[in-house]
Amino acid sequence: MPQNNRIYLSSPHMGGTEQNYIKEAFDTNWIAPLGANVDAFEATIASYCNVRHAAALSSGSAAIHLALIILGVKTGDEVIASSFTFVATINPIVYLGATPILIDSEPETWNMSPELLEYAIKDRLLKGKKPKAIIPVHLYGMPADMSKIMEIANHYDIPVIEDAAEALGSRYDNKPAGCFGKMGVLSFNGNKIITTSGGGALISNDEELIIKARFLATQAREVAPHYQHNQIGYNYRMSNVLAGIGRGQMEVIEERVKRRRDNYFFYQKHLGKYDGIKFRDEPNELYFSNHWLTKILIDPSKTGINREDMQEELEKENIETRPLWKPMHLQPIFSYCPAYLNGVSQELFANGLCLPSGSNMSDSDRMRILDALKVILEISSRRVINSLKVLRAINALNELNEINAVKHINDLNDQKDINAINAINAINAKNKIAAKNAKKSKNAIKSKNAIIT
Ligand SMILES: Cc1ncc(COP(=O)(O)O)c(C=O)c1O
Repeated sequence: MPQNNRIYLSSPHMGGTEQNYIKEAFDTNWIAPLGANVDAFEATIASYCNVRHAAALSSGSAAIHLALIILGVKTGDEVIASSFTFVATINPIVYLGATPILIDSEPETWNMSPELLEYAIKDRLLKGKKPKAIIPVHLYGMPADMSKIMEIANHYDIPVIEDAAEALGSRYDNKPAGCFGKMGVLSFNGNKIITTSGGGALISNDEELIIKARFLATQAREVAPHYQHNQIGYNYRMSNVLAGIGRGQMEVIEERVKRRRDNYFFYQKHLGKYDGIKFRDEPNELYFSNHWLTKILIDPSKTGINREDMQEELEKENIETRPLWKPMHLQPIFSYCPAYLNGVSQELFANGLCLPSGSNMSDSDRMRILDALKVILEISSRRVINSLKVLRAINALNELNEINAVKHINDLNDQKDINAINAINAINAKNKIAAKNAKKSKNAIKSKNAIIT
């Protein structure tokens, strides 16, 4: 077991004033259901996101569910959404009996490709179905290309629900993520940039939509002296205690954004120079990401290690990482969904890893992660260089080019590799005794096969 303390991917980071608001709820006995904290939290969220209204809810998933209901999505409908996302974006579409239409990513932001979006809309229209809504996601805090997406959505007159669950504090064209569409969704889940332990919000400039969301979230109880219900409702409101945490958290949101971004620049500064490690910067000055999680793409042919082994190596150091989201079109449960693909998200999933990104990581935590990454990358890249040297030697041997072979064998600096080459040489020469001796180095055939295949 590693001795070091565990470094988490993204853990809750309290600001210090949360308990004052919780205490206020206790003192006034407004523990549940609603109360002053909920009202104040909603007002703060709306103002921060530059929208007129916000409904505080039990989760981001609940917010997506309600947004779809409000737009009238029902059985048999189609809803377009990003394929590269967390499953919570898609599940509510299926709760309503509608079919998710999955759109792959553009390389610039890793979010919904506007080009594929338009192609998909045209194709669905040709097939006789107009999609009921479009859900672009601002994944890992990087804003989607909202000018193009909104232009397409407006042109075809399809409402947009922005999934900004991971993007509180991100901006596109200097406007907050979540404020572009008809409705926006936020999450205050435990690993998000701020948390209420669990919670979410639906935001919009349209008061009627938010009033409707609050109504549906409180069991669709009609105004009447008794309990009157004319439609199906849900228990989706945020409690006054949790909203108290949210009020405290919103006091430090700018610090949290700053620190997450700082994490990104720290990793980029120190790892960006490694061949085979790539970062996804904001494509241009229109984009401002909260860099909720820092991600790297690992090219195993250059680094000598793939993202799964990298994750495992970091885990041995008690450092938590996570692969990028597995796209929804690759999930068995959504294999029936029409998908418009370009291969981008599949490749991101194959090579991408999220690094610890909490705003509460200390400078020494970050140095520990960096040191671990450097050691792993240096060992693995040495392996790549050795493999290349072995490969050159084998080629020279196969070509019966003795001078080159000797040169390359002399270049080898690992005794195991030298033994392997000797074994291969002996096998090629059909020198059974030499081969048998050389094969005692267990590496021989294994290395040859590994290198050749
Ligand atoms: C992209 C995305 N959408 C939706 C959600 C759902 O939010 P919640 O966990 O609050 O239901 C999350 C996070 O959990 C998310 O990352």
